[in-house]
Amino acid sequence: MDSQEQHGRCGAVTAHPTQALLAAIVESSDDAILSKTLDGTITSWNRAATRIFGYQPEEMIGAPIHRLIPTELLGEEAGIIRRLRAGERIEHYETVRLSKNGNRIDVALTISPIRDADGRITGASKIAREIGQRKEMERLLVQTEKMIVAGRMAATIAHEINNPLEAIVNLVYLARLDPSVSDEVRDHLALAEQEIERVSLIARQTLGYFRESTRAGSEQIDKLVDEILTVYRSKLVHSRIVVHRNYSPVPAIAVRRGELTQVFANLLANAIDAMGKGGDLFLDIGPATVAGHEGIRVQFVDRGIGIPENQLEQIFEPFFTTKPENGTGIGLWISRQLVESHSGTITVTSKTGPDDHGTCFSIFLPFTPLCKVDIHSALIEKGTHVSEL
Ligand SMILES: Nc1ncnc2c1ncn2[C@@H]1O[C@H](COP(=O)(O)OP(=O)(O)OP(=O)(O)O)[C@@H](O)[C@H]1O
Ligand SMILES: [Mg+2]
Repeated sequence: MDSQEQHGRCGAVTAHPTQALLAAIVESSDDAILSKTLDGTITSWNRAATRIFGYQPEEMIGAPIHRLIPTELLGEEAGIIRRLRAGERIEHYETVRLSKNGNRIDVALTISPIRDADGRITGASKIAREIGQRKEMERLLVQTEKMIVAGRMAATIAHEINNPLEAIVNLVYLARLDPSVSDEVRDHLALAEQEIERVSLIARQTLGYFRESTRAGSEQIDKLVDEILTVYRSKLVHSRIVVHRNYSPVPAIAVRRGELTQVFANLLANAIDAMGKGGDLFLDIGPATVAGHEGIRVQFVDRGIGIPENQLEQIFEPFFTTKPENGTGIGLWISRQLVESHSGTITVTSKTGPDDHGTCFSIFLPFTPLCKVDIHSALIEKGTHVSEL
């Protein structure tokens, strides 16, 4: 092994056989091993350090250790130096470091003081172990654990709400039959009945009883969205939100109605939450082709606070919420699953500028041979209508 040469790259200066052997061990370690002076100047840098952080030894020897530390963690280094000066050894300190290309790397650090012949502390050796994979495993475990708990809780709640729901369905049905009820109230009751049926369906699905029998049926997506708007009408008015509907004619499509209702209702509720000061909400529905597949696109475009770029993927994770008071953070996670179970996609773009802010959720539902229903009759009706609710 060319230990002399690698020894040299590590920045050490002796050719003593034992030290050469030690240097070879350091060089072949899987962990990044480096040394630094007490003012934070790097004095040696092994091969694993190059692999993990992406810098060559000649770039790092003589450079400040700060280069590896994210700005918000710079204070950490001062604390470490203080402990080192006191002769303390720091073991398995989990933190984050930066690679040359700016990626954040989870590491566990073991830092020991280096002393000169007189016992004075002159610097420190650092061993950095990559723990990204372990961290990811831990994260998945915690997530699975949360899911199991949530699953149990959901099943319990579903079970408990099923019975009162049945009573409500019966009462609404009876109220609807009452001859003294006006047509308008009867329409409202019919809608209420549908919504209750939807809750009851979710409850049964949660209990795992009903999944197979919720077959796709032929639905007009624009009608479905309008029904949800009717259910949310008073909330929209109260929140001073004006809805602009821009619908192009689309054919009926075979979808599971309850599931898509859940998706659109969640997108609408999120938009309302994001538009605390009210404003315009645009709903666009029309035919679209994505990756060669024909289908229907539904877009919810709000002028709300927007979503910071670093949260755009997180929002689809279970339990990610920025609404500590009333959010569970599962709305978009479920929505993505439901859309994907229709072979569709849900995408998001957002802006958070002081004057230009808002979010666009776009759902694409492809026509599959099974989904394409009655396309001819829908296409007879040409043109686009724009209306306000
Ligand atoms: N239109 C939007 N504008 C701004 N932020 C949004 C929008 N839609 C979603 N978000 C962000 O995504 C997060 C996750 O949304 P999601 O619907 O999954 O959960 P939630 O609304 O917080 O809770 P719930 O489970 O009750 O729906 C929200 O907390 C919010 O931060
Ligand atoms: Mg939500």
